Amino acid sequence: MTSSVPTLEDLPPLAGKRVLLRADFNVPIRDGEIVDDLRIRAALPTIEWLEQQGAEVVACTHLGRPKGKVDPAYSVEPVRARLAELAPGVELLDNLRFDPGEEGNDPAFVARLVEGFDAYVNDAFGASHRAHASIVGPPKSLPSAAGRLLQREVEVLGGLRANPKRPFVAILGGSKVSDKLKVIEALLGVADQVLIGGGMCFTFLAAKGNGTGASLREDDMVDTCRALLDEHGDRLVLPSDITALGPGGKLMDPGAGGDVRQVGTTVPDGWTGVDIGPGTAADFGDRIAEARTVFWNGPMGVFEDPRFESGTRAVAQAVADTRAFTVVGGGDSAAALAQFGLDREVDHVSTGGGASLELLEQGDLPGLAALRGELTN
Ligand code: 3PG
Ligand code: MG
Repeated sequence: MTSSVPTLEDLPPLAGKRVLLRADFNVPIRDGEIVDDLRIRAALPTIEWLEQQGAEVVACTHLGRPKGKVDPAYSVEPVRARLAELAPGVELLDNLRFDPGEEGNDPAFVARLVEGFDAYVNDAFGASHRAHASIVGPPKSLPSAAGRLLQREVEVLGGLRANPKRPFVAILGGSKVSDKLKVIEALLGVADQVLIGGGMCFTFLAAKGNGTGASLREDDMVDTCRALLDEHGDRLVLPSDITALGPGGKLMDPGAGGDVRQVGTTVPDGWTGVDIGPGTAADFGDRIAEARTVFWNGPMGVFEDPRFESGTRAVAQAVADTRAFTVVGGGDSAAALAQFGLDREVDHVSTGGGASLELLEQGDLPGLAALRGELTN
């Protein structure tokens, strides 16, 4: 069960007070430019509310993984500039991960961080699965609450676990079964059907005795996949056809040659499965159309390459079209939705990848437990 967390209304009066806002502004940046500012825009309702109360807001975030050292490649400057446009008057501290105390959850770092503040708000859903200093430390000494973004993520993702309308159909993609095993198990415990696409489908297909050619496959996970298939049978739905790239072909490089062809569930030697096929896309689409609750995480294929975007596009379109309550988690699936112009067509696009999966898996996160006052060290 996801326990509730204190929300903004639970904070003491904030007029004239200084509030430390932990945000997840870990946005994609290319050549110094922000590629997608969703995570910055998503924090605005919280910032606006705090400012309406008369608080002075100072925000902090991590950016990338600079490993405890100051590294200009991970400067928050582009974020600071965007934030200044969207929320003038909000200060942004330096990248939290420039200090080893952040990931080390060092009490001395927490003490420096909270110095001079009267309250703490966590709106960093995407980082709340990390027991890092800025996530779990401040609630030990400051009045603390979840911001609007975090609150909504907890309501939506917690609601999927607690009382989904049925049928509940989950669609999972991504390359590795090993990364998604726990969430596959958790979803099998709550969803009516779990549809598997992406690179990880080949380990499942191998477990059913299909040849997978040169496709991604985790040999040490084949037995685990076989056991899941034996136990859950037709609730675990695999592709019935595959789009494959022939010998000599290169991903993201159509000029390199290599045939593209639909194969059944057996990928020939020398061929690489890179997307679900049209039959599978139609089947997944029908199941999504009949659902009342849908959760989607992970692309169905290498959608960045136009030759292999159809499966992901079909799933994105089906998720956009269904009357079901739809939740999309994870950076890649959100990026796919945006690429197809469908990001406004779903009920909830989670700002967290790992965090959304961990919340579905465990029903709780270190950052939530901290806000409830349940972490003592
Ligand atoms: C993310 O982008 O997944 C979050 O910001 C967390 O970042 P991390 O995976 O580097 O902890
Ligand atoms: Mg991550």
